[in-house]
Amino acid sequence: MKIGARKVLIDNAEKKGVAWREDAEALLKDRRLPNTFSRHFGVSHATMDYPSYYTQPFHAYEDGNLNWLAAAEVESATSAMCLRVWPKDAGIKPEEAQDRLRDSYQKEARRHMQEHGTDPSRQDLNTWGARRECPRATSVGVFLPKPSRVLDLSPFFLAVAQLREEEAPLGLTYMHAKAEETGLPSASHHLAALTFIVHELPTAATTAIAKEMFRILKPGGTLAITDNDPRSPVIQGLPKPIALLMKSTEPFSDEYFSLDMEAMLEETGFEAVETVATDPRHRTILATKPRS
Ligand SMILES: C[S@@+](CC[C@H](N)C(=O)[O-])C[C@H]1O[C@@H](n2cnc3c(N)ncnc32)[C@H](O)[C@@H]1O
Repeated sequence: MKIGARKVLIDNAEKKGVAWREDAEALLKDRRLPNTFSRHFGVSHATMDYPSYYTQPFHAYEDGNLNWLAAAEVESATSAMCLRVWPKDAGIKPEEAQDRLRDSYQKEARRHMQEHGTDPSRQDLNTWGARRECPRATSVGVFLPKPSRVLDLSPFFLAVAQLREEEAPLGLTYMHAKAEETGLPSASHHLAALTFIVHELPTAATTAIAKEMFRILKPGGTLAITDNDPRSPVIQGLPKPIALLMKSTEPFSDEYFSLDMEAMLEETGFEAVETVATDPRHRTILATKPRS
């Protein structure tokens, strides 16, 4: 079932202008990639104690995100996901869909920060926005501005992102770490953005990550979590076979859908918790770390 679904997913994406097979093939052949991997992430990969939820089959890849094929396909998979948000917009290009999606939650996060949070420097936010010019840079992990870093648990994904940074620098530093245990100093960031991450996690990991984000945020700092919106008509109306297929490739989707994220964030200590439907399928949950 997963193999058939994968083919349909790739064929549909290619029909809409995503060069899935071609781009993956080019990356898999790119000799710079293994060098980038060993230069930046080889040591941490060898010593990382990966959580068990991260080493199981995922998205139809037997070893989850810890392999080159998943890394070579992550940019296209992200483009395809963005296109699925606007299925009736026949002529929409992959880049346009991605910009629309990223703009929708960044706009709400900026508003929340202005209303409730500290005033992050314009430069931090510009880097976040600048990623729209390089959508490939958006296909990994947790975004933490100032200094603008992106943290992810797959060194393979990070190697692709690092390569893109070298091709078209945005000033991003890529860091191989668990979001639940970043090793970053306490009260060091104005913003932590978890975009399309938590639907991949068991509740215990999501809760641990919320605590860690609380720790590393400055007082008045903002947490922005963008992901599938269980209340959206699109998700509620998913045909049964599609919903089943989603579950078969996303082992923790049931846990994600049943977690009361807003209550969990309040229990963690966040205030001004609000949820905004930022596009037809996704919500952004915004929360502020109290100033005192
Ligand atoms: C669907 S991708 C989303 C990527 C990106 N943030 C975006 O907006 O396109 C989910 C990412 O979360 C990363 N991830 C999952 N669990 C993680 C954890 N515990 N710590 C850090 N990264 C994690 C995965 O490796 C993967 O790159």
